[in-house]
Amino acid sequence: MCTVKFKLSVALIGTCCLLHTVNLWADQRLGIGQALDARTLSGWDIDVDPSGEGLPSGSGSSLKGAEIYSQKCQACHGENGTGGAANKLTGGTGSLTTSAPLKSIGSFWPYATTLFDYIRRAMPLNAPQSLTYDEVYALTAYLLNINGVIDNTKVIDASNLAKIKMPNTNGFIPVID
Ligand code: HEC
Repeated sequence: MCTVKFKLSVALIGTCCLLHTVNLWADQRLGIGQALDARTLSGWDIDVDPSGEGLPSGSGSSLKGAEIYSQKCQACHGENGTGGAANKLTGGTGSLTTSAPLKSIGSFWPYATTLFDYIRRAMPLNAPQSLTYDEVYALTAYLLNINGVIDNTKVIDASNLAKIKMPNTNGFIPVID
């Protein structure tokens, strides 16, 4: 009995060693598993949190954002964010408790800073991260304006974006640590 267990253990250790060697070989051959350097990481480390931490310098207003929107966003999101091939970016106020909820920026999103983060990171869908920071601020201001959150002359930047109160800020249950 003991001999069988011993043989099994030796076989198991042998298999593990073999797999480890194969993994090391694959890692070296495919060039995976290497440490990221700071420069490479900085391209991914662009999150903006609800307090505004992570917002870059730059600024923009809705008036400027409207121009950029018509050139780079409207084809998918429709005139004034009313929707086309892609999501509606406005509307839905009061719809969340109905049988046809529309989760838009104005009706659902709890933080204005998330809008900046999302646009900078992912839009336009066909050319993500191609916008300047000023353009992202201007588009954020424009989308906040068409959702009735700010007026169209307000200039937003890193110092005031996090202070903007979204209509549905209180519609979420706080996470308790
Ligand atoms: C080629 C089409 C296309 C273009 C151009 C485009 N978008 Fe989008 N956008 C999408 C699609 C598709 C989604 C939904 C993505 C998903 O749910 O994963 C989306 C989602 C969004 C959302 C999130 C909506 C929500 O409530 O979930 C925002 C905000 C947004 N886009 C803003 C913009 C802005 C600003 C521009 C212009 C700079 C832009 N988009 C250009 C296709 C596009």
